[in-house]
Amino acid sequence: MCGIVGTIGEKALRTYLIEGLRSLEYRGYDSAGTSFIDQGKVTTYRLPGRIADLEGLVPKEVTASAGIGHTRWATHGEPNFTNAHPHTSNRGLFTLVHNGVIDNFRILKRKLETQGFTFASDTDTEVIVNLIEFHYLKGLTPLKAIQKTIEELDGSYALAILFKEENERIYFAKLHSPLVIGKGETTHYLASDYLPMLAYAKTFYIVTDYQYGYIEQQDVVVKHLDPQEEKPITFHETELTVDDIGLNGYPHYMLKEIEESPEVVKRIADNYFDDNHFLFDDVLLQKMKEADQLIFLACGTSYHAAMVGRRYFEEIGKTCRVYIASEFAYYPEVKGENPLFIVISQSGETADLIRCVQLIKQRGNPLLTITNTKGSSLDRASDFTLLLYAGMEIAVASTKAYIAQVGLLALLRAALMGNNDILTDFIQVIAGMKNIIDSRDDIETIAQQIMSAPSAFFLGRGLDYDVAVEASLKLKEITYIHSEAFPGGELKHGPIALISKNVPVIAFISDPITAAALRSNLEEVKARGALVYTISNLALAKEDDAFITPNVKVYLSPLLKVIVAQYISYFAALHLNRDIDKPRNLAKSVTVE
Ligand code: AGP
Repeated sequence: MCGIVGTIGEKALRTYLIEGLRSLEYRGYDSAGTSFIDQGKVTTYRLPGRIADLEGLVPKEVTASAGIGHTRWATHGEPNFTNAHPHTSNRGLFTLVHNGVIDNFRILKRKLETQGFTFASDTDTEVIVNLIEFHYLKGLTPLKAIQKTIEELDGSYALAILFKEENERIYFAKLHSPLVIGKGETTHYLASDYLPMLAYAKTFYIVTDYQYGYIEQQDVVVKHLDPQEEKPITFHETELTVDDIGLNGYPHYMLKEIEESPEVVKRIADNYFDDNHFLFDDVLLQKMKEADQLIFLACGTSYHAAMVGRRYFEEIGKTCRVYIASEFAYYPEVKGENPLFIVISQSGETADLIRCVQLIKQRGNPLLTITNTKGSSLDRASDFTLLLYAGMEIAVASTKAYIAQVGLLALLRAALMGNNDILTDFIQVIAGMKNIIDSRDDIETIAQQIMSAPSAFFLGRGLDYDVAVEASLKLKEITYIHSEAFPGGELKHGPIALISKNVPVIAFISDPITAAALRSNLEEVKARGALVYTISNLALAKEDDAFITPNVKVYLSPLLKVIVAQYISYFAALHLNRDIDKPRNLAKSVTVE
């Protein structure tokens, strides 16, 4: 969702802001803007549209001592010029960009209106900037005015703020939305994540909740709303490099990330298994054994990985629940006495999960976060973190993170069972993945056959159903084809009414227990004219199957089947000429509820 950049005194200020925003495009956005400050004059360029449009708007040569930039993913008000950030206060004293949502902005807006403030946009952001000005005009310093303001805000925010009278300083504040400070050789940077700063900064500081302060070329001041919490900050290095975020010859990040899957599985094994030993924290394993319930919470693709995780742990005798985080956040049902919560999130910044974590903290139950993002809000909030080591995932559609999530859950289960043979099973998976990657042209043919359909259906049973749900999400996300997934046996209970001539039905078959039952469901849809594409495996293959994956242990079959599903969506989107890495309306990291 929204992205923020800012820096001071940088010679290549324009380049940093524009290229920085470009590197945040993957987060999802519909408008973009920048403000430059030069000798007490703030100039703002903003519009609905893409970074390329903004680049055309900002003059080639910009003289300025500091600047901030923003990509907006609309929450309050449609994407238009007036709602795009940056926003400036009524008297022009403060200009800011904001990532997050202010829940009480209407009350604050009314309060400001009674004080004579006026508003041009529909945004909650314009309220923040005017509230800062309101407090400043009462005689506070800018820093105190910002402190006073954020004390009044309910919701989430990452802010970068210019003050007209201090041309070489950028103020900031953060709650529940990500913000990172970078330290370069000659100046400091602000951004929503590391990416914009990788070419400029050597070390980084992840701003934590309730912190606020400012950056200058040589100085950083970080305050905390609770002064007891104020401590010296330390900058760290990141393993990410500019090369990690390149396309490396691929036309799209999604394709690159799908094809990194074998490496991802290897990395998971290398990080959590060594010399015939699992490398998980013994305390975590003990807590998992003692827990009377494992409660999985996640959203989207991560939720689909959690569905697989639930089966894994139920199979070894644990009672499990799996909830969509945005539902659990409002209907938190916990039956057991001693549950352990498992939060799964690629980004580690998903707002629905952050809300759940606040509830878990109040309950005092142990919390394990499985995330790809070290230092993320969820990583920091949890008692135990297991990193996915999938490498930066840039395409909005999650692919390799799912692979890492399912792989890690399989390893965790093996650790609880003491099953050291999993490494052999993983080796088979890696070989199977490579085989599928080598045969991707055959999957492209399937994609070309389904891409013109208005609707598609995915079927499976057991783990194959979990894959079907993920396959359906992927197809919707990047092709905009309507699709649904059902357990094969459920069809006759209603959905079969949707099956008519030439409707594509894609079925996954990996489990001998349900293979025959699913095949008879397929006969039923064929009889109604559906075009059936069966993705089976060598052990269960039949002559007319559309694609056959190599054999792996059934419990690991989602790791192969999902790659076929990802390719189907990718190639369909490619031939439909969709914006594959940045599908419409979507954001990589969903930082608002
Ligand atoms: C997946 O392709 C999606 N873009 C989306 O469903 C995503 O998985 C979901 O928003 C959860 O994100 P997280 O894993 O970063 O928490």
